[in-house]
Amino acid sequence: MRTTLFDLQAMKQAGRRIVMLTAYDFPSARLAERAGVPIVLVGDSLGMVVYGHDTTLPVTLDDMIRHAAAVVRGTSHAFVVADLPFLTYATEADAMTAARRMMQQAGVQAVKLEGGAPIVPIVRRLTELGVPVMGHLGLTPQAQHTLGLRVQARQAAEARRLLADARALEDAGTFALVLELVPAPLAEAVSRRLRIPVIGIGAGAGCDGQVQVWHDVLGLYDGKSPRHARRYADIGTAIETALRQYVDEVQSGAFPTPAHSARMDKDELDRALGED
Ligand code: KIV
Repeated sequence: MRTTLFDLQAMKQAGRRIVMLTAYDFPSARLAERAGVPIVLVGDSLGMVVYGHDTTLPVTLDDMIRHAAAVVRGTSHAFVVADLPFLTYATEADAMTAARRMMQQAGVQAVKLEGGAPIVPIVRRLTELGVPVMGHLGLTPQAQHTLGLRVQARQAAEARRLLADARALEDAGTFALVLELVPAPLAEAVSRRLRIPVIGIGAGAGCDGQVQVWHDVLGLYDGKSPRHARRYADIGTAIETALRQYVDEVQSGAFPTPAHSARMDKDELDRALGED
């Protein structure tokens, strides 16, 4: 049985911190689930960490569906949420199409949409029609060219707007909210005021849960990891070391050994090559 949004709600009520982690393919999803991650996010951050773009903007719905389907195949217990990419939910009709394709073709349990007041009617319509929606406020990377890549809502007016947006998204039916790069005291205040779980990234310890990006926690991203990320392993260096050994062994002839090779009966080989 997969985790449900009711389980997530119960975790908030019980004061159990919720863990969310991004994953973008079958093996990473399996590992995340085995480690006990209850929510796997197929983030459009894949545009940067998997495809090497500078922003998330070039990511298409087809990209997201392909990766989300692999993550769904790699999990059987986790709740899988996928981002709808840039401008695929700008109109109600576009949002319906994008959510339908994501849920039918990838099989995810929910979609995540970035933004506040302007998308509230779209969120309401999606949730009325049975699409579980996760909100995302604060730094919303799809709007990075207008917001800048910096901590959001430091000033009272902006912080009030963020709280109003959070409440409007909750009223519109979102089952959870991501707060990205928001001052910790504000994120904690929003978490306390909402009934739905608030999951932070760069938003302090007072949220109901935390989300991190796969490549950041595992040291797989060559670029500079953000300040709010913690590296729990240096898998990138481990991979490079292993691959150097592979290169060395092929070049020196140490690999493959007879144990890695298939044998053939000599008579069969002679018969095959006899007339050659
Ligand atoms: O795309 C993503 O990975 C995200 C998380 C950083 C919340 O939206």
